[in-house]
Amino acid sequence: MKLVILGAPGAGKGTIAKLLSAVDGSVQISTGDILRGAIESGSEWGRQAQAYMSRGELAPDALIMEVMEARLQQPDCENGFLLDGFPRTIPQAQALHQLFDKLGITLDLALNIEVPRDVVLERLTTRRTCENPECQAIYNIKSKPPAREGVCDKCGSAVVQRDDETEAAINRRLQTYTEKTAPLIGFYRQRGLLLTTPSTSSEEVVAAVTGRLGSAH
Ligand code: AP5
Repeated sequence: MKLVILGAPGAGKGTIAKLLSAVDGSVQISTGDILRGAIESGSEWGRQAQAYMSRGELAPDALIMEVMEARLQQPDCENGFLLDGFPRTIPQAQALHQLFDKLGITLDLALNIEVPRDVVLERLTTRRTCENPECQAIYNIKSKPPAREGVCDKCGSAVVQRDDETEAAINRRLQTYTEKTAPLIGFYRQRGLLLTTPSTSSEEVVAAVTGRLGSAH
């Protein structure tokens, strides 16, 4: 399947992308994970993105497009991809669809996960993530804790809180989402590609997507 996944910070984009990836092997591509990996490796563009991320602001569109243009042409995208946290602005969406036209790619769906603000705030403060860049499993100390406290069930690495999980950064991320990313809902509705679901149950979101796409996927 070829999907764009939209939703506020903490809506569950990463959780749903991992579940959908298990359905048919489509690759999860998270721009947030890519940026965190670049910071970890000390690369120049990771250094450029770090200041924006720690403030809860978006990295520049040109930087993101350079990374994603190369990423979407990797062979593992041929059988499907789940774009988690990208596009995030109207200019990114326009550039992405120009790239799709150039590469002959047809997007199946834009999934919009709708979650009330109080639920999102609760989820972000209780989320924990595996620090191994190859794993990045997502946990929640209330709803989905690892079997052994602080240790990833999948790879045994430490499970930690992300750097942008301060109250100030979370508030800024939510404001940035409302101003810059929420307009994408209209962008995809106009193109007849939008599927909006509440994220009360991740399994129900997955069922809504597979139901809409049909057995071909
Ligand atoms: P990014 O990493 O994309 O963060 P985000 O959008 O803020 O989203 P999150 O990863 O915080 O949440 P999520 O929706 O994936 O939720 P999750 O599944 O973890 O981006 C970080 C930063 O990078 C940005 O602020 C920006 O600076 C930069 N950036 C990234 N992409 C960019 C772009 N395209 N352009 C410019 N800048 C960019 O779930 C959250 C918690 O809830 C977890 O604990 C989970 O276990 C729990 N949970 C999930 N679903 C459920 C459920 N159904 N019931 C109960 N708990 C649940």
